[in-house]
Amino acid sequence: MNWDDATDERPERLVGAAADHEDQAVEAALRPRDLGEFIGQERVRQQLDLVLRAARQRQGTADHVLLSGAPGLGKTTLSMIIAAEMGVPIRITSGPAIQHAGDLAAILSSLQEGEVLFLDEIHRMSRPAEEMLYMAMEDYRVDVVVGKGPGATAIPLELPPFTLVGATTRAGLLPPPLRDRFGFTGHMEFYAPAELEKVIRRSAGLLDVEVADDGAAEIAGRSRGTPRIANRLLRRVRDYAQVKADGVVTREIAAQALEVYEVDRRGLDRLDRAVLQALLKLFNGGPVGLSTLAVAVGEERETVEEVAEPFLVREGLLARTPRGRVATPAAWAHLGLVPPQQGSGPGQTGLFGP
Ligand SMILES: Nc1ncnc2c1ncn2[C@@H]1O[C@H](COP(=O)(O)OP(=O)(O)OP(=O)(O)O)[C@@H](O)[C@H]1O
Ligand SMILES: [Mg+2]
Repeated sequence: MNWDDATDERPERLVGAAADHEDQAVEAALRPRDLGEFIGQERVRQQLDLVLRAARQRQGTADHVLLSGAPGLGKTTLSMIIAAEMGVPIRITSGPAIQHAGDLAAILSSLQEGEVLFLDEIHRMSRPAEEMLYMAMEDYRVDVVVGKGPGATAIPLELPPFTLVGATTRAGLLPPPLRDRFGFTGHMEFYAPAELEKVIRRSAGLLDVEVADDGAAEIAGRSRGTPRIANRLLRRVRDYAQVKADGVVTREIAAQALEVYEVDRRGLDRLDRAVLQALLKLFNGGPVGLSTLAVAVGEERETVEEVAEPFLVREGLLARTPRGRVATPAAWAHLGLVPPQQGSGPGQTGLFGP
């Protein structure tokens, strides 16, 4: 099974970072339209602002831009902002959609001067297409191969200058020659709670939901540093507030709603907690092997490793060690359990005696 990109890919997961159908339907309306509206990512925003301003002053085309970072942090949003700030159209495609070099040649040769070509999941493009892209990025030229076998000929084709914006959740998978051809690389970080609060307040305004400041803070804390998750939790909390209360999202309402949806105050869901609970209660905090842990929670090994663990590790609740999975003191504290006394187990007198 190909788990590439599969971190968090359970469509039914309220705290999954990948976009589900509802997200796709509403995200267009929630996307910031220009750099001024884009919240957080201070450094990337500042650098990108310089790149775009300079290009505008020269009345030229902006340099190629690579955006890397986890799902739901705003890569697609930023690519649209780049086109908007430059006042040019945007063409959107993705690595998996480009199977053959010919697919790419067709897109490239139909670009208008200055247009932004957004290539999502650029790390999943085929090798021949990638090689064609090298030349297109550097020389605004492609060689279109006509015919097959010994009679095949390459016809060079001039392209208008364009700006490639590549997005990837896996910058490490990009071949260096491709990475080197981008003039600017922006790495997107997870958002701070205060930034997510702003995202939530902004979205609430657009969705016409009344959210108290402490309500926004409550949702932000459970959103795993990810605007997409923040927006999704906001919609579920809005539903709850509408049905169970007067529609106003206060801290209390937000907490009650997310209790119902089993998203705890740190953003852990049922699966995350099941993994932690097994690790703590059945295996005394570990170390325990991944397969054993997976059996204990009744899940596939891959599910535990790819879906639950990355966030638990990021939160400092679980550590992967050569001897197996180990809970950190923060994990015991989070579940309100007391860790066993070090060295007081049977047959284990401490180094300095009992
Ligand atoms: N800085 C931000 N300010 C406000 N809203 C944001 C910001 N970043 C992202 N969002 C919101 O989060 C949603 C998801 O963002 P986006 O689709 O750009 O993420 P992505 O990085 O492209 O994710 P993926 O890797 O899944 O393609 C958008 O609809 C947007 O409303
Ligand atoms: Mg995207």
